Amino acid sequence: MKIKNICCIGAGYVGGPTMAVIAQKCPEINVTVVDINEKRIEAWNDKDVENIPVYEPGLSKVIAETRDRNLFFSTDIDSAIDKADMVFISVNTPTKTYGIGKGMAADLKYIELCARQIARVSKSDKIVVEKSTLPVRTAEALKNILDNTGNGVNYQILSNPEFLAEGTAVEDLLNPDRVLIGGDVESPQGKEAMQALVDVYAHWVDKSRILTTSVWSSELSKLTANAFLAQRVSSINAMSELCEKTGADVNEVAKAVGMDSRIGPKFLKASVGFGGSCFQKDILNLVYIAKSFGLNEVADYWEQVIIINDHQKRRFAANVVKTLFNTVSGKKIAFLGWAFKKDTNDTRESAAIYVADYLLNEQAEIVIYDPKVKAEQIYADLDYLNSRPCEENRRCVTVANNSYTAGKDAHAILVLTEWDEFKTLNWEKIYNDMLKPAFLFDGRRLLERKIKEKIGFEFYAIGS
Ligand code: NAD
Ligand code: UDX
Repeated sequence: MKIKNICCIGAGYVGGPTMAVIAQKCPEINVTVVDINEKRIEAWNDKDVENIPVYEPGLSKVIAETRDRNLFFSTDIDSAIDKADMVFISVNTPTKTYGIGKGMAADLKYIELCARQIARVSKSDKIVVEKSTLPVRTAEALKNILDNTGNGVNYQILSNPEFLAEGTAVEDLLNPDRVLIGGDVESPQGKEAMQALVDVYAHWVDKSRILTTSVWSSELSKLTANAFLAQRVSSINAMSELCEKTGADVNEVAKAVGMDSRIGPKFLKASVGFGGSCFQKDILNLVYIAKSFGLNEVADYWEQVIIINDHQKRRFAANVVKTLFNTVSGKKIAFLGWAFKKDTNDTRESAAIYVADYLLNEQAEIVIYDPKVKAEQIYADLDYLNSRPCEENRRCVTVANNSYTAGKDAHAILVLTEWDEFKTLNWEKIYNDMLKPAFLFDGRRLLERKIKEKIGFEFYAIGS
């Protein structure tokens, strides 16, 4: 079976880049990305490709090549579903904020809405692909909805979790470590559907890197991969605190440990704490699933990854207060970086948000500069926490348009995102414009201690 028309529901950080790369590599397939968010679709269709809603290195080029050739962005969800022989569901699956499983379980309401819409609209057989990260056995619920409320059409459900990391999405999509496809391996129809999706990826991914498994293994592998990655960050962050107490240097420890080929060097960078829309959400979901099966030890084991991460963010902020003579009240504190990592405009669960909240509770005045995050996003992130009235967030937080303005007259500078441009700033100038003593807190191990101390900074870095 050859796929001719793909519909992807959800034009977010995953749906947009993933479909752009599929369209680029499969010129004979028409790909339509749909969303209920009109503003987002408008931005994807903006004449100036630099205005697309997701910032990712290399993405605007792929969009320029494919948009209106065989890649389309639309709010007409029904007609895109109707035309498609394969429908990807790539909508958000955030942590539930209400009811049973509040604060832990994944909220599947958007997924269910998609399933019901597909069931209502479809007049021909379809392959439905779970691209969103989902709890293990979600495909069962999807199938149930599709089979019982549909128009008698046949559905095959595949799980095809996405492993791209933000900031390197295009590169990850072009050269994935693996592509994982879960399906009904028992039936000929299931195998045929899996083969159809294998054929899409085989346009550019070597077959040896395309893994096929059962649906349940595929769904669970995604949660497991994110849990393992986050666990490594929490492991090194736990050691960073011990390094600070003992005079060891966490970068040296990470290098020594990572050179063991059984351990490997990646994801051992100590930081102010991991952020992003995935790690915390997916681990909480894993913990919830384990608990729901009565596997309390398994749940506690993974929960510790989150506990260390929360601790890391809190202790970084607490150290700022302690170092600034136990008070930041009325003091100007400059934040360099707000995104959860470099090369993205995504701020979801960014450690910077929690550090800001802590310092605002201590009555600090915060000035923020991030090369890709807009002021309205920063205020929205702070308002979302509900810690204080929105007006107070606007009164106590200002957004600067460069690092120099942010640092002027500040008592302290906090590096919270590892943007390359922060490495090459004129730090002498920044130092001269700050109040003295001038404190510099490096939450990303981005800057050279010796050089900064020579300039005159009181320098603090995570893990040494
Ligand atoms: P996102 O919030 O950026 O995008 C989701 C989009 O889906 C939104 O634009 C929203 O308007 C749209 N949507 C929601 N319900 C809809 C509906 N019923 N019909 C049409 N559109 C609807 O989310 P994202 O970061 O792209 O993540 C999507 C999924 O992929 C999540 O399950 C996430 O866990 C997973 N994932 C994310 C990443 C990542 O790096 N962001 C990586 C791998 C997997
Ligand atoms: C992650 C997974 O890597 C990706 O495979 C999955 O599809 C989605 O979730 P993402 O959250 O986009 O990707 O970025 P990632 O590079 O994993 O970084 C997550 C957080 O961990 C960031 O805040 C990052 O700064 C932090 N991190 C990462 C560290 O603090 N140290 C590290 O060594 C690595």
